[in-house]
Amino acid sequence: MTFIKEIKNRKGFKIDENNKLVFDGCCLEDLASIYGTPSYFFSETIIREQCQEYREAFKKWNIDYEILYAGKAFLVQAMAHIINEEGLSLDVSSGGEIYIALEGGFPAERIYFHGNNKSEEELNFAIKRGIGTIVIDNLYELELVEQIANILNKKVNILVRAIPGVDTHTHKKIRTGQIDSKFGIPIQDFLYIFPAILAKKHLIYQGVHCHIGSQLFDMQSYYLAIREMIDMIKAIEKNYEIKTSVLNLGGGLGVRYTEDDTALSINQYVHQLVGQIKIMCNENQLSIPKILVEPGRSIIADAGVTLYRVGPIKQAKGMTRYLIVDGGMTDNLRPSLYDARYEALIVNKFDEEALETVTVAGKCCESGDILIKDIKLPHAENGDLIVLFTTGAYHYSMSSNYNGFPRPPVVLVNKGKHGFMVKGETYQYMNQNHAFPEWLTPKKVT
Ligand code: LLP
Repeated sequence: MTFIKEIKNRKGFKIDENNKLVFDGCCLEDLASIYGTPSYFFSETIIREQCQEYREAFKKWNIDYEILYAGKAFLVQAMAHIINEEGLSLDVSSGGEIYIALEGGFPAERIYFHGNNKSEEELNFAIKRGIGTIVIDNLYELELVEQIANILNKKVNILVRAIPGVDTHTHKKIRTGQIDSKFGIPIQDFLYIFPAILAKKHLIYQGVHCHIGSQLFDMQSYYLAIREMIDMIKAIEKNYEIKTSVLNLGGGLGVRYTEDDTALSINQYVHQLVGQIKIMCNENQLSIPKILVEPGRSIIADAGVTLYRVGPIKQAKGMTRYLIVDGGMTDNLRPSLYDARYEALIVNKFDEEALETVTVAGKCCESGDILIKDIKLPHAENGDLIVLFTTGAYHYSMSSNYNGFPRPPVVLVNKGKHGFMVKGETYQYMNQNHAFPEWLTPKKVT
């Protein structure tokens, strides 16, 4: 087989008149010569299309809604700018992400602040800067936010995160809705703690939040979570005569990394999610609250690709054939952390037959640093250019400097235009915060 079919399956990819592979109008071989390898490329066209698909899917329903992009999947200032232009709100999980968003010109009032151990410093920063909503994770935090809001004399909108007690069919490291979770308040405790929430003078209760997991294909888990959350909203209304205006169902929609993944489209997901909420609200004679979702991966995963150059190729007799590339777990932690699978092709040989089964390995000092185990590719040689698909979500945001590798550049492409969103790190940049305690005399290298 050749990869022509795979290319047609991939958003943003085309073969141009010179028989070169292009991504959002940019020739990949040219991009590799300009920016070097490894490097991340993001298609602005795809990012905007994904946002639009979410907007269109919600618009069909006559309900109040808000779409929050989950910044943990990928957040840099330029991304915050695009998300703002697309009219989405933003979910952040740290003071650092708030800072990126604000520097990127994102309006504070459309930011939702998550996290299961927000520090006093982070909360101070968030409240001072007028962050729109804080998602309260636990009772300790409830008290802390009230104290800080009191000192700053501010009113703060809050959502409260519940653990709905729903287990999902995804990798155990990205499940969050099960009762034994480190995020949120168990749903069975919710009613008892509610008076404490209402007693806070500076906190304005808006509603409830849950997030059951990530890379989900199965709507049944969402339906179970919706049932739990709606029962809870109903019980809050009955017991305390308090209206819950907002139901935030988190993110989690899965994407297609390989042909084994049967992902729902954004439109199908929203259709089924909102449809179910409507049914369950009707059954409970409950008016439909404002619906919030927090998609990360389903907006950004398909918009990103990573380019690598093949270095040595190794094969002991009868053993694995390793193509060793110039990146690895420092720019893509997902295979080592979650056994994640990817598809790739050799850019300069995309139309050649895939005859060899190889393993694409990284250059880190870890045997587990394997990007793709057993993939069929054309006969590879040193210097070939490899593109890994679907690398937009949780790649750059989970990258590291392990082994002293600088993080690669992050480049935005759009219909033939291209430019940095983040420059590649240098050795100097990586060392800028290194210091010598006063009792150590630095040795000057001559
Ligand atoms: N909202 C909350 C509260 C979350 O914790 C997450 C993801 C999201 C929204 C966005 O979920 P998404 O739509 O992207 O699935 N590093 C892992 C994924 C961790 C997800 C953490 N929370 C990975 O690479 O698969």
